[in-house]
Amino acid sequence: MKVTVVGAGAVGASCAEYIAIKDFASEVVILDIKEGFAEGKAMDLMQTASLNGFDTKIIGSTSDYSKTANSDIAVITSGIPRKPGMTREELIGINAGIVKMVSKSLIEHSPNVIIIVVSNPMDTMTYLVHKTTDLPKNRIIGMGGALDSARFKYRLAEALGAPISDVDGMVIGGHSDKGMVPLINKAVRNSVSVSEFLSEERMNQVVQDTKVGGATLTGLLGTSAWYAPGAAVSAMVQAIACDTKKIFPCSALLEGEYGLTDLSIGVPCILGANGIEKIVEISLSDAEKSKLNESAEGVKKTNGLLEL
Ligand code: LAC
Repeated sequence: MKVTVVGAGAVGASCAEYIAIKDFASEVVILDIKEGFAEGKAMDLMQTASLNGFDTKIIGSTSDYSKTANSDIAVITSGIPRKPGMTREELIGINAGIVKMVSKSLIEHSPNVIIIVVSNPMDTMTYLVHKTTDLPKNRIIGMGGALDSARFKYRLAEALGAPISDVDGMVIGGHSDKGMVPLINKAVRNSVSVSEFLSEERMNQVVQDTKVGGATLTGLLGTSAWYAPGAAVSAMVQAIACDTKKIFPCSALLEGEYGLTDLSIGVPCILGANGIEKIVEISLSDAEKSKLNESAEGVKKTNGLLEL
């Protein structure tokens, strides 16, 4: 199992680190256009191998895509992250050109690769890869819902005063402050609806805190977060690499599912060796449906800014 991570910034590096620590891949290749940066990160990570107990070989390169040849999975984190006060959508101008170039170079050397897009605005960048490459749609996946759901579970556990392992919940919709749809009425504590424990007001607060989860961190850190994004990607990579068939909300190209077409947006997907094995159509309440439709409109508006 060979995994490439493009972009050795904080998200790319933490993603590579988590993949290595989980020790399911034989090789991780990190690329970054900044001279020497990926080589340095790879070497630093390799020097943790004996301490953290992994055998994954990590190599870094500036822009030699031949090193990525025959990757099974590639993660695109390249581009610029947002600064405090910025929306993810504002990054489209710079990131679209980068993501297009990176995906083409990856596919040239790994025609059967499964691509996971992390660069923002993520749903639109995922759509761009769908529109500008010939990869089958199950092999192009956007990472958003896995991260947003992890942030949702964090906020749920906090509100419930419960251990994280006792809560479950999912966020669908676009990976944007306005577009996220945390499915609060489906969230549970050990199979019991959270509405049994939390007031309407507290539930609304959890939803609100989840939606601005990334923006809150950007305000605190001065740049976009990396531990949770890296962990979310590595969990998806592991599900594909180990063919687990676990469900993750992922940005998937929709062709009629949920009554939506011609966009990539967060919906529950079964991940396995073929990437998206299946888009799962769960039943949504009218309120959830209208929030998802509103979110889709927002994503389509951003997609409209692409020069395809
Ligand atoms: C975030 C970035 C990865 O939400 O979009 O932290």
